[in-house]
Amino acid sequence: MAGGATILGIETSCDETAAAVVEAARTVRSNVVLSQVPVHQIYGGVVPEVASREHLRGIVPVVRQALEQAQATLEEMDAIAVTQGPGLAGALLVGLTYAKSLAWATGKPLVGVNHLEGHLHAVLLEERRQGRPDPPLPAVALVVSGGHTQLYAMSRDAERGYRYRTLGRTRDDAAGEAYDKVAKLLGLGYPGGPLLDKLSDFGDPRAVALGRIRLKGNALDFSFSGLKTAVLRQVQTRPELAAGIARRQAAIAALGHKPTLDDWRAVCDQPTLDLIASFQQAVVTDLVQRTLAAADALTGAGEPPASIFLTGGVAANRALRATLQAAAARQGLTVHAPALNLCTDNAAMIAAAAWPQVERRHWSAFSLTAHPQLPLDSPA
Ligand code: KG4
Ligand code: ZN
Repeated sequence: MAGGATILGIETSCDETAAAVVEAARTVRSNVVLSQVPVHQIYGGVVPEVASREHLRGIVPVVRQALEQAQATLEEMDAIAVTQGPGLAGALLVGLTYAKSLAWATGKPLVGVNHLEGHLHAVLLEERRQGRPDPPLPAVALVVSGGHTQLYAMSRDAERGYRYRTLGRTRDDAAGEAYDKVAKLLGLGYPGGPLLDKLSDFGDPRAVALGRIRLKGNALDFSFSGLKTAVLRQVQTRPELAAGIARRQAAIAALGHKPTLDDWRAVCDQPTLDLIASFQQAVVTDLVQRTLAAADALTGAGEPPASIFLTGGVAANRALRATLQAAAARQGLTVHAPALNLCTDNAAMIAAAAWPQVERRHWSAFSLTAHPQLPLDSPA
């Protein structure tokens, strides 16, 4: 395989229809993402059937656009990489079926990719496209998005390129899901993560004690549903918060345009802003503490990590980035996180994750099918 092998990546695991052309997991020639957020917004969350329908409408134009922007043709591709799972079954099938048809029609090899491996390789892709060397491995990697909150140990492997081992996972809601549910509960629209991040600047993170997240069993697991319930309890027991929600919903409905940050800020009273800042503080503290505990656990097992990876949609959160960086630096570790457009779901990360398999000519069979719960762990 030539040094600059070019891969077409396709991603349809959740609510983004995405295609990208990436050379050797280093040069992003195009990265097209068609977001379904406006379609799902009216339901306040992703509706699986609607997601499949939107992927069907979007997949052909999105792939065509990715090739056009890269000024490339299908014939020039060395392989076609596609997300196999985890994700929504119907959504995954749209990308998989289209990728298989393209591979079949052109005679190009097919590579099935784990979506979570994609998020991890977004970190490597970012470093390489910035002209920096790959971060040293092993790494402790936190993948934190609307669908996942997972901690992995990631290391090199001669056979497959990289190895992954799950250290912890959420037992209920993902962190991004908790952000979205809390935003919805407070009448702040969908998806709420980015807005709560910005509004947190105006509140006091020490104002509301939401309780620490306690778990039995694996100390590296996460749980965010209790925190969401604690926010709900605040709303149910403090009439000023409930009254604020009703006022806010009426004011936003009367606006007549898409609310800006200033509009949201104007309709949030101080008790609400304090609650938002306290919620964010609780999420960030928990994510940072468990990530560093994972680093300690690896060190204790004689496998000290050399880096920390932070990736997934919630990795866009400014407080999370800053707090994790500061805490990791105290342990002599550097945090590596992709730029925003590689943190959220995209297909460049899928093409990048396929590269080690393309180099090794590890192709997938045409029997490749959707695997909604696909695990990432490498065989022992
Ligand atoms: O990775 P992603 O695009 O899709 C999934 O695989 O879920 O992540 C989207 C999630 C949403 O839950 C969104 O609210 C959250 O990431 N998110 C944020 C921020 N930006 C996006 N959460 C907190 N702070 C942010 N700045
Ligand atoms: Zn994702």
